[in-house]
Amino acid sequence: MDIRFEKRPVLKEKPDQKNLGFGKYMTDYMFVMDWTKEDGWKDARIVPEGPITMDPACVTLHYAQETFEGMKAYRTAEGKIQLFRPEMNAKRMINSNARLCMPEFPVDMFVEAVEALVKVEADWVPSEPNTSLYIRPFMFATEAALGVHMANAYKFMIICCPVGAYYAAGLNPVKILVEDELVRAVKGGTGFTKCGGNYAGSILGQVKAEKLGYAQVLWLDGEHRKYVEEVGTMNIMFKIAGEIYTAPIEGTVLPGVTRDSMIHLLRDWGYKVNETRLSVDDLMKAGHDGTLEEVFGTGTAAVISPVGELRYKDDVVTVNNFEIGELTQKLYDTLTGIQWGRIPDKYGWTV
Ligand code: COI
Repeated sequence: MDIRFEKRPVLKEKPDQKNLGFGKYMTDYMFVMDWTKEDGWKDARIVPEGPITMDPACVTLHYAQETFEGMKAYRTAEGKIQLFRPEMNAKRMINSNARLCMPEFPVDMFVEAVEALVKVEADWVPSEPNTSLYIRPFMFATEAALGVHMANAYKFMIICCPVGAYYAAGLNPVKILVEDELVRAVKGGTGFTKCGGNYAGSILGQVKAEKLGYAQVLWLDGEHRKYVEEVGTMNIMFKIAGEIYTAPIEGTVLPGVTRDSMIHLLRDWGYKVNETRLSVDDLMKAGHDGTLEEVFGTGTAAVISPVGELRYKDDVVTVNNFEIGELTQKLYDTLTGIQWGRIPDKYGWTV
């Protein structure tokens, strides 16, 4: 792919690596490519990061034809820069786009674009412990027309931002509210895609939970309000009587890269991982009878988020005395160890 480069006259000042937060400081450049029905993908370019213009009738502003991805670049102790399973993000975006009737951005072009931008922004990949460069590829319709239809023009872009830990408090057990009214996804819907609409629809649940003193919501399935699916914007795993349970990838749950990587590690370590439906009743029962050992969310942004309390209606269970579980910590240490190059990558996940 030929990538045109447009230099920024003045580079931005880099933020303090000890105080990055999440998603606040965009880097100097962004990758952009356009798609039209006639020409397909064209004009790959890396240009100064900044506002873009949009027609007020742009399809995306009205009908949310938008998908995105989330991935990171990690700086190793030797100063090398690594990506983690980037082709999985590329493939997931293809699946998301297929569901939203958006054009396919080929895997090799996706990885090439990410690599090219990260190379240009190498100085932005932070080196403080637990920091990384968050990479946000996204695609949206650009056609100006108010009819609901597959648009005739799209843009694929990538922006990046140096990030610290997703949760300011670090790896800390959080309180989770089981949401028994609102739902995130239904079979046949868009739950398995990374489209903006899924996230827009989830914010009310989060606001409700926060009002009651909870960090996030545990989403139940949309049909029965019975089976546990995701926590906030993350996949969720439960350790019950020594075995791991997590919702199956059957159309309503996001196929997380972190989820998949953790399942690999867990099976490698001899754990039985059940990708199966777990009812909230069985979950709460396990919480009361002492068999619920650990609960944690998994995602690219936060890596792992331990759960210390679950509330379902009036029923409350404390998980592992509100402490970080042994397996939770081991998974976190191993995955981040591979990502930051502290542990040899025997799985071939780093690039
Ligand atoms: C992740 O957990 O990586 C996410 O998808 C969260 C992101 C929407 C900020």
